[in-house]
Amino acid sequence: MDEKKVMLSGIQPSGDLHLGNYLGAIKNWAERAEQFECYYFMADLHTITVRQNPADLRRRTLEQLAQYIACGLDPEKNTLFIQSHVPAHAELGWVLNCYTMFGELSRMTQFKDKAAKHKDNINGGLFTYPSLMAADILLYQPDYVPVGEDQKQHCELTRDVAQRFNHIYGDVFKIPEPYIPKAGARVMGLTTPDTKMSKSIPEGCVFLMEKPEDIQRKFKRAVTDSDTERCVRFDPAAKPGVANLMNIYSAVTGKTMPEIEAEFAGQGYGKFKPAVGEAVIEILRPIREEAGRILQDKAYLESVYKAGAEKASYVANKTLRKVYKKIGFVAR
Ligand code: TYM
Repeated sequence: MDEKKVMLSGIQPSGDLHLGNYLGAIKNWAERAEQFECYYFMADLHTITVRQNPADLRRRTLEQLAQYIACGLDPEKNTLFIQSHVPAHAELGWVLNCYTMFGELSRMTQFKDKAAKHKDNINGGLFTYPSLMAADILLYQPDYVPVGEDQKQHCELTRDVAQRFNHIYGDVFKIPEPYIPKAGARVMGLTTPDTKMSKSIPEGCVFLMEKPEDIQRKFKRAVTDSDTERCVRFDPAAKPGVANLMNIYSAVTGKTMPEIEAEFAGQGYGKFKPAVGEAVIEILRPIREEAGRILQDKAYLESVYKAGAEKASYVANKTLRKVYKKIGFVAR
């Protein structure tokens, strides 16, 4: 029998999970657990590139694990772990720093965005963040990295670094491919359809654990457009707000853009916006309820992340040993 292909991805527990994280990443992960050998983690090491409140970081890391499981990531079928519990990430991260160029890191848009937002704390970790992300990925020799559009640049840098390393030392790393969904790869803010949905603009961001009435309120207030046509038509350049809502609706229901246009033909935004809200509420309802239940059981969560770290460490250490040997470190 052929070996299963490997998938790996992570999310920073720097904020509560939102609809962008779900549609861009997690939904895609959960649908493929049977087909692939999967590793998913809470990227806590990455979060401290920006100052975190320690108690909040701890709480959110566990909440994120409960939400992963509630989204359909069965810990029996997926390896779920906390990044800082597998020291090989930090170790390979250092090594890959030495194979990633200053110029490459300088071109990363996430670095430029975050440096602009946190002018008083442009630390070394923020700059070298992509080398750690490359380590996260390459340790597990994955075939695919399922992420939203905004992480494509980091995935491409990972491929470049892996190829550079392989070129010097032989075939050490598998060259992974980003795996980006057709609908939901770039969910925009409901109040700012020109910027991606993120926790930093909470009024335009739908959180997975949010109450249905709050979600519906946000959709009703979503920015559409100011033209007089007021019809549901997919035209991202002229009607970015409507296109974003259609993209969300398509990702949630599986309907195509022409199907959505036909469904709302002749009806204004007054019908369309609450219908998108309702579809999102229905998909998030079971997740919110299940995550709430799982979060009560701290012993269960601990057993999941401990088993996950053990399994992940086994695989990660194998790659790390190979790397250390290739670069000439004396075996431990
Ligand atoms: P992060 O934590 O910012 O986001 C986690 C995942 O959610 C996706 N995403 C979105 N997708 C669509 N629309 C949006 N508005 C939206 N906002 C976020 C992201 O593309 C991502 O897939 N560097 C990574 C975390 C990371 C990682 C890794 C990912 C660390 N190591 C290794 C993959 C593999 C990050 O900051 O994602």
